[in-house]
Amino acid sequence: MEGLIPVVNELQDALASVDGGLALDLPQIAVVGSQSAGKSSVLENIVGRDFLPRGSGIVTRRPLLLQLVRNTDTVEEYGEFLHRRGEIFADFEEIRKEIQAETDRSVGSGKNVSAQPIHLRLIGPKYMDLTLVDLPGLTKVPVGDQPADIELQVRNMILTYIERPTCLILAVCPANADLATSDALQLAQRVDADGLRTIGVLTKIDLMDGGTNARDILENRLIPLTYGYVGIVNRSQRDIDGKKNVQSALEAELNFFRNHDSYKDLDRVGTPCLIARLNEQLTLHIAEVLPDFKVKVQRQIQNLERQLNKMVLDYPHDDPQWKPKALIVLTIKFSQLYKIEMIGMTDAGL
Ligand code: GDP
Ligand code: NA
Ligand code: MG
Repeated sequence: MEGLIPVVNELQDALASVDGGLALDLPQIAVVGSQSAGKSSVLENIVGRDFLPRGSGIVTRRPLLLQLVRNTDTVEEYGEFLHRRGEIFADFEEIRKEIQAETDRSVGSGKNVSAQPIHLRLIGPKYMDLTLVDLPGLTKVPVGDQPADIELQVRNMILTYIERPTCLILAVCPANADLATSDALQLAQRVDADGLRTIGVLTKIDLMDGGTNARDILENRLIPLTYGYVGIVNRSQRDIDGKKNVQSALEAELNFFRNHDSYKDLDRVGTPCLIARLNEQLTLHIAEVLPDFKVKVQRQIQNLERQLNKMVLDYPHDDPQWKPKALIVLTIKFSQLYKIEMIGMTDAGL
């Protein structure tokens, strides 16, 4: 079953290049949380590199669809953007700049947000196959050129992702705030009341008040989720300012949990544990939804086939410009969909 995530990655890219009108959801993991909860930090820990735009306030302004692809033939990890197909990004600093630039290109350099995702694929020998969507953080107060309804816009954008039954929700909650008030959990509960597809991530465990600890949460007793919670320690702002890299951060995290009296006997802690659990859950999840997906693709193809036949019958018509163009567009769409079906069906062995 481990081949399933790469298949869905292919589908995701193919679908993105079919413009408009395709209502097919693919299984993915959406990263949800309030601003500064630690979402970007968790993603960088998972990737093992610094590559996300940084700064205070709202930095993630478009969804980032991040596909991690394991390829043992490569020596060093590298990136590819769907909007710059064919170009290799070997320098992760360039990846960061390109995410920033592509965000600015579509929504301007201010604080506005857009629901249009940026597709980034990272390929490397040590990655575990994983597809994650980084979403803008939940905010309360509009800043800069943000419209007055920014909170609602972001909330709705997140909801369009997480309300799909095919979406796993990675709810990022800081341990130094009351879990019951977590924006991420509240939003997740709206679309997944029984917590069947929500995975909790508890960040900032190192910042909890002295004398308190997170055992109740990590042992899934406080607000239980089917998949429970994984405890994480990311870099602090001081670590980042001091240029501590992700690899040393991961070592520090390991030492934190290993040497902490409250956590050393727990196994649901640390980034490696999170990665393994996400890979496992996503694979199981894909296996579950793929048969349904196959039926939907076939239905779409039949639909397009009908449209195509009708158009061929109607042609030539009194509008000499429009019809031939429409025909070409439809034909392209059709062949793309056909390609989608080929990828999805053959590779997944369905
Ligand atoms: P995002 O807005 O949810 O993407 O949050 P970031 O990942 O950008 O983190 C916001 C701030 O919190 C940064 O200054 C991080 O260094 C800090 N931070 C995130 N996670 C942790 C953590 O586990 N421990 C500590 N000490 N700081 C953290
Ligand atoms: Na949160
Ligand atoms: Mg962020």
